[in-house]
Amino acid sequence: MNRLPKDFLWGGAVAAHQIEGAYRSGGKGLSTADVMTAGDVDTKRKITAGIKEGEYYPNHEASNFYHRYKEDIQLLKELGLKAFRTSINWARIFPKGDEQEPNEEGLQFYDDLFDELLKQGIEPVITLSHFEIPYHLHTEYGGFKNRKLIDFFVHYAQTVMTRYKNKVKYWMTFNEINNQMDSFDELHTWTNSAVRFGEEDNKEEVTIQASVNELIASAKAVKIGKEINPDFQIGCMMAYVPVYPLSAHPHDQLAAVKMMERRFFYSDVHVRGELPAYALARWKKQGYKIVYTEEDLNALKQGTVDYIGFSYYMSHAVTTLPDVGGEAVRDYPGAKDTANPYLTANDWGWQIDPTGLRYTLNIVYQRYNKPLFIVENGMGAYDKIDSDGKICDDYRVDYLKAHIKAMTLAVNEDGVDLMGYTPWGVIDIVSFGSGEMEKRYGFVYVDKDNQGKGSLKRIRKESFGWYQQVIKQNGLGDE
Ligand code: BG6
Repeated sequence: MNRLPKDFLWGGAVAAHQIEGAYRSGGKGLSTADVMTAGDVDTKRKITAGIKEGEYYPNHEASNFYHRYKEDIQLLKELGLKAFRTSINWARIFPKGDEQEPNEEGLQFYDDLFDELLKQGIEPVITLSHFEIPYHLHTEYGGFKNRKLIDFFVHYAQTVMTRYKNKVKYWMTFNEINNQMDSFDELHTWTNSAVRFGEEDNKEEVTIQASVNELIASAKAVKIGKEINPDFQIGCMMAYVPVYPLSAHPHDQLAAVKMMERRFFYSDVHVRGELPAYALARWKKQGYKIVYTEEDLNALKQGTVDYIGFSYYMSHAVTTLPDVGGEAVRDYPGAKDTANPYLTANDWGWQIDPTGLRYTLNIVYQRYNKPLFIVENGMGAYDKIDSDGKICDDYRVDYLKAHIKAMTLAVNEDGVDLMGYTPWGVIDIVSFGSGEMEKRYGFVYVDKDNQGKGSLKRIRKESFGWYQQVIKQNGLGDE
């Protein structure tokens, strides 16, 4: 019962801007990730207006995968991966984002990368926009609040889907598209939509508009993709952080339902092809004027996804109880996002909850009855090299083992249709949230610190052998 189906896609995941580096090579334009400085657990990353001298931008070199991918893919092969999730950096293909003609050098890079993966028997799983767009689309158009970006994105999607139609079967449109609805701080709206807010803007309203534009762009890309190759499997990508009611109080129950709408809004549109009633009601109540046409609504209907890719790291809890502390949330009167007393957390305060993964697989599968794909999961941690050169990351093994156990139960006991599992940051990469190199997820250590110093040498961690074994036996075995 600890085994997964025979064709299960065991893999690993990364994203272009967090691993590739070479931010100006091969004709690449600046991307929105290239203007984000490093932060740490207590310091937010800054987003600067262009590249500023004297600032450190960790994504510029990242793990230098652009120049080392062959060596890295050898390691992935040794690990036994059947699938490797990465993204295409839009600014390599269209350096400014609004050109008609793509940059051939950028296209060739991904041709070579996908060829190398396929040669080693590893299936590429490709996200079209993983937290970055060409920087020019921000400065010139204001990001995704501008509906011109729908056409730019669709042109980009069509270009790469045509080029790689015989190399890539599994696609996803926008990474963690729902993150922007969690808070309208710079980081979240920036990474999803690169929106430039005006002084008068209501940030929630503008973020919803950007989201609707992205959902339309995604649906159009899905439709075109299926025309290019009917065998494509094209999914959405959600961050499913489940929200539990802290107590059985009816207000806590309803607060959790309302908070979950922030996530479900996106997958409801992606999967069902229409704007959900709860969203329309909320926009009306708030007086938001979200712009879309009949043709857009049609496009949403025609571009529903084949599967739901999602990341899972942690769960949240919400309460309305007056004697419990927490950060106020806008979803329900008196509701606060609060710590769950039954869980522990990692060094960045992310609450660890393997059962929450099974819970998520259940609620999402029951809601949509579509195949699911866990395309990110893992635990960020500070790893140390011992005096004998080993990296004993047993905490990582414990985390992953518990989550694999939970997902196995969801498949074998709850009947969930799960396509695969690609744990995050399989090789160490730059953290999206903090910009740290030392917030590590990987099975392969990359010798580089938060200041950008190090040889970039790759070292197998103890977890490498463990995951290799899991893949070999197609599950946890009898543990
Ligand atoms: C997801 C993103 O939010 O979580 C990744 O899709 C990100 O890009 C990952 O790296 C982990 O977050 P962080 O902040 O620890 O890098």
